Amino acid sequence: MDLKSKINLEKLPTHIAVIMDGNGRWAKEQGMARVFGHRNGVKAVRETTEACTELGVKYLTLYAFSTENWNRPEAEVNALMTLLVETIKNEIKTLNENGVRLKAIGDLSRLPDKSRKTLLKAMEDTKQNQRMTLVLALNYSAKWEIVEAARKLATAAKSGELDPADIDDTAFSNALSTVGIPDPELLIRTSGENRISNFLLWQIAYAELYFTPTLWPDFRREHLYQAIIDFQNRERRFGKTSEQLV
Ligand code: FPP
Repeated sequence: MDLKSKINLEKLPTHIAVIMDGNGRWAKEQGMARVFGHRNGVKAVRETTEACTELGVKYLTLYAFSTENWNRPEAEVNALMTLLVETIKNEIKTLNENGVRLKAIGDLSRLPDKSRKTLLKAMEDTKQNQRMTLVLALNYSAKWEIVEAARKLATAAKSGELDPADIDDTAFSNALSTVGIPDPELLIRTSGENRISNFLLWQIAYAELYFTPTLWPDFRREHLYQAIIDFQNRERRFGKTSEQLV
């Protein structure tokens, strides 16, 4: 039986988040520069997006550039920004043909003008699509996002618009950049690293974590299917006992 047919389509995660890792190591294994790994990572982005759309996953969030990634060599940062612009331009048509809406989370103000403009235009050009939402985390870090949310709530409280007693889970979620997007149920990280690296810390409170040794440029739809099957075989108790779930 092929992997895809083992997936229970009734129990798909609504939102899958991915920490795409291992591009540099993949390139090194081939004796190539790190940028070669990022370029090949785009194939995995395309295939994962296609597979999620076909299955009926409603949200896919990809960690494309963290606030810490600015510390990489300038040439690599520039190459990543160029790749991003090129990829978005190349894929808009396909996104529209497949009903995929593009969104972004992160501090977009620090992106180079060209990257930001391309991104904003792509978001505008795909905003009518409803089959799936592809969220790119760009210049994103969860601590940045949480601090921003706290600042927003504090400002509203100071001005009298918000009663501090009304700050609860929902109010906090609504102040995050992921407002309106359901929390991911499944978080995948490639390349054998077992950490979260400042990604969606609030939103993954109850996500199932799936770590695979596969390097991101090698990640294909079968790897995604395997992660979903693994997710579907887990018991999600949300603090309850197994008996209560029956
Ligand atoms: C992590 O691998 C990968 C990144 C920091 C960038 C991811 C970017 C892409 C896949 C290309 C463009 C993406 C989109 C959405 C258009 P790494 O460089 O940290 O690998 P290493 O840990 O092996 O060094």
